[in-house]
Amino acid sequence: MTTRYRVEYALKAHRRDALIEFIKGLLAVPFVLHSQPTAFSGANLEEMAAESHRRYREIMRDIEGLINDHIACDAAGTPERSKLRFLVPSVGRFFTTLFLEKAFMEQDRRRAISSRRFVAPSFNDIRLILNTAQIMSLATLDGPTKLITFDGDVTLYDDGQCLVPTNPVIAKILWLLERGLCIGIVTAAGYTDGARYKERLFGLLESIRDSADLTDAQKRNLIVLGGESSYMFRCSPSHPDLLEAVPREDWQLTEMRAWSDEDIQNLLDIAENSLRDSMKAMRLDATVIRKQRAVGIVHARGGKFAREQLEEAVLGAQKILELSDVGKRLPFCAFNGGNDVFVDIGDKRLGVLCCQRFFGDVTGGQTLHIGDQFLSAGHNDFKARMAGTTVWVASPAETVACLEELIDLMEHGLPDY
Ligand code: IMP
Ligand code: MG
Repeated sequence: MTTRYRVEYALKAHRRDALIEFIKGLLAVPFVLHSQPTAFSGANLEEMAAESHRRYREIMRDIEGLINDHIACDAAGTPERSKLRFLVPSVGRFFTTLFLEKAFMEQDRRRAISSRRFVAPSFNDIRLILNTAQIMSLATLDGPTKLITFDGDVTLYDDGQCLVPTNPVIAKILWLLERGLCIGIVTAAGYTDGARYKERLFGLLESIRDSADLTDAQKRNLIVLGGESSYMFRCSPSHPDLLEAVPREDWQLTEMRAWSDEDIQNLLDIAENSLRDSMKAMRLDATVIRKQRAVGIVHARGGKFAREQLEEAVLGAQKILELSDVGKRLPFCAFNGGNDVFVDIGDKRLGVLCCQRFFGDVTGGQTLHIGDQFLSAGHNDFKARMAGTTVWVASPAETVACLEELIDLMEHGLPDY
């Protein structure tokens, strides 16, 4: 069994989220004991659902306690005493408490998780409970949320598409700006001039320009951080691109100033070689794109790569770079962009930190990053977890739903459960 477990783990480690798997495992026990047998015994379904609900709720309350203990241990400088870290060694940092019990009640109301007899609480059930718990705590805790950062592709708009004027996320972002919140779009898409970002984001930028409700200062509270953490532009309604470049001194972190050009090119050379090796080994019909601070492969004829091919190319590049000297000096991000693979200099931890610095030392607990790529390897929103709180969405529609939830709680507070 142990060997089988280890083999499975080695095969799938990069496709798993350890905390979600842990919670899933805990909820599986009451599911097996209380829900599943009723599928065969004809027992009273209402009683079954009530019992499962009670057990699931208790477990979520216990995990909420584990997270509070974890936060307390980190704050006391004794991270090794965290019970949660003992149970889930790879777990990261939590910037706020998570209202998991209340979030479970809310998601159970919406998704009827406790009423299911054949399908156990799933990865998506737990991802959504965690999202709601994070939103509930941000909307109702004392330290008000100051900054919301968004990934671009799959979070604000469909993969490779643009933010068009009919996108329902626009009204939500305008609402947040009007309440004095700062917004950052932290995307891997790396362009050196504002005109390219205007092409991708025009629906939002034009709505901000035309808004009669936003003050000039509020309009300027939206920034774009492209290439993970490489180029910053600020919303500027009078500029022809609706965006103006922000000088590096105003936003770059001290640690980024120490990067040498030689190291950057050296890292990109290693990455490019690895991508070319992958192209050859898997006979990929791909074109290499080399930029100032990124290198990637895209399909040469507009076709589709298999997910396995994309992941293989990402993990190959990542491993080689991790083992290289320059990869130990420079932060980088190798990721699967859906139908392309990119290696960028910098990452979204730095991207979110730059936004925090630019808007005046906003803290991690005052920041929410919304993205779709949170697996530990091959996904580029993952590192943002080190800079602030996060919400993991699966589509632009889910982003809108999360913002609706946040806005509703900011306006009306938490309901009684
Ligand atoms: P994100 O989801 O907003 O982070 O955007 C990721 C996508 O941007 C990638 O999948 C690429 O298709 C595209 N992209 C364009 N330029 C770059 C670059 O320089 N680095 C990484 N991705 C890029
Ligand atoms: Mg994305």
